[in-house]
Formats: sequence, structure tokens, C-alpha cells
Amino acid sequence: MKPALLILPALLALSALALAACPSAATPEQPEHAESVKPTYPGPPKPWHAMEMSEKGQYMKDVVLPTMKRIFQQHDPQNYADFGCDTCHGLDARERHFEMPNPGLYALYPPGSPQQQQMVAEKKATLAFMVNEVIPTMQQLLGEEPFDPMTKKGFGCAECHPHGVE
Ligand code: HEC
Ligand code: HEC
Repeated sequence: MKPALLILPALLALSALALAACPSAATPEQPEHAESVKPTYPGPPKPWHAMEMSEKGQYMKDVVLPTMKRIFQQHDPQNYADFGCDTCHGLDARERHFEMPNPGLYALYPPGSPQQQQMVAEKKATLAFMVNEVIPTMQQLLGEEPFDPMTKKGFGCAECHPHGVE
């Protein structure tokens, strides 16, 4: 498991804000979970780490790509009109054997660093989308544990984004 980034406290506060400002996220399919307004996903047919590379690729194609494409396009139809494997894995995905994180994605810096503060200031909408939609959806799709800021374990930003080098 890769080390997770330490930016969660700021993001959790942000997440609460974004949720409060987003009543349209409620889904009528789940009235019994009033506190959880997100759809849930069953995850892979067997534990992710126990899957062959080919099985992972197939699951990405059948389940991850269509689900994440819908979520990204709902968030920003223009920017993500061409959403594919490469949006997450990069155009050199094959050469890198689909290894994640993808060094071509936006680099994330530790909490309190000037770069991280700048990101929080300049990319509020994207950040809220990452925290509220991308992280929980992907975490469930892969059958991973949610990120725990105490133990620093679970599915976090660093599964996709590289660490910034200061
Ligand atoms: C929304 C982002 C996203 C999209 C889109 C996506 N992937 Fe992935 N993929 C990931 C992440 C994150 C992992 C790493 C999961 C882990 O190991 O924790 C991964 C892992 C993989 C792996 C396993 C790599 C390894 O080292 O075990 C393969 C193979 C793969 N993806 C293929 C694909 C293919 C093919 C597509 C398009 C059909 C695709 N992915 C689309 C995010 C994505
Ligand atoms: C499943 C993979 C995945 C995870 C997990 C993820 N992101 Fe992202 N992130 C992406 C992709 C894909 C993009 C869009 C890249 C593009 O537009 O080409 C993106 C874009 C961004 C951007 C906008 C970058 C820019 O150029 O403006 C920021 C900021 C960001 N993510 C922060 C985060 C943070 C913080 C987290 C954790 C809370 C996170 N992401 C979790 C895949 C992921």
C-alpha cells in the first residue's frame, strides 16, 4: 500500500462544507440511509490484491471506467468529454503497466505547505469533487477501506496523485 497524503484535516472540513452546499446529491433510491446521500457500490468480485493483472484490467474496463466517467462528466462535461483510462493512468499507461500513482497527475503537497494552501485556495470546486465523489466512489469500487486520518491507512489521494517534491 502506498503512503497516503496528510492533507485530510483541511479536506474533511472542506468536505463538510461542500456536502452542506449540495442538497442535489440526495438519491431517492436510498431513503433508508438518510445520513448517507451517496450511492454505494459492491466492489470487485474478489479482493483487489488477489486479482490477476488481466482481471484488474477487465474490472477497470467493465466497472471502474463507466462509473468514474459518469461522475467526472457530471462534474464537468466540457473538461471530461474524453474520459478514458488515460485520464487517470496517463497516455503512457501501457509502458508503465498501469502502475499508480500516475506521475503525470497534479502533484499534491503536505498540509501546511505553501503549495497545499495554494491548491486549497485555487481549486475549491475540484477539491470538493475529489473529496466528496472521487475518493468515496473509487474506494468502494476497489473494495478498499476508507482513509483513516489517525492511522493514515485506507484509500487516499495518493493512490492516484503523485507527491509533490519540495
Ligand atoms: C478513475 C481513475 C481510473 C480510471 C478511469 C481507470 N483506472 Fe485503472 N486504476 C486506478 C487506480 C487508482 C488503480 C490502483 C488501485 C490499487 O492498486 O490500489 C488502478 C489500477 C489498475 C490496474 C492494476 C495495476 C497494478 O499495478 O496492479 C490496471 C491493469 C488498470 N488499472 C487498468 C485500467 C484500464 C485498462 C482502464 C480503462 C479501461 C483503467 N484502468 C481506468 C484508477 C483508474
Ligand atoms: C481515482 C483517482 C483519483 C483520486 C483518488 C483523487 N484524484 Fe484528484 N484527480 C484525478 C483525475 C483523473 C483528475 C483530472 C486530471 C485531468 O483533468 O486531466 C484529478 C484532478 C485533481 C485536481 C485538479 C488539478 C488541476 O490541474 O487543476 C486536484 C486539485 C485534485 N485532483 C486533488 C485531489 C485530492 C486532494 C484528492 C484526495 C482528496 C484527490 N485529488 C483524489 C484523480 C484522482
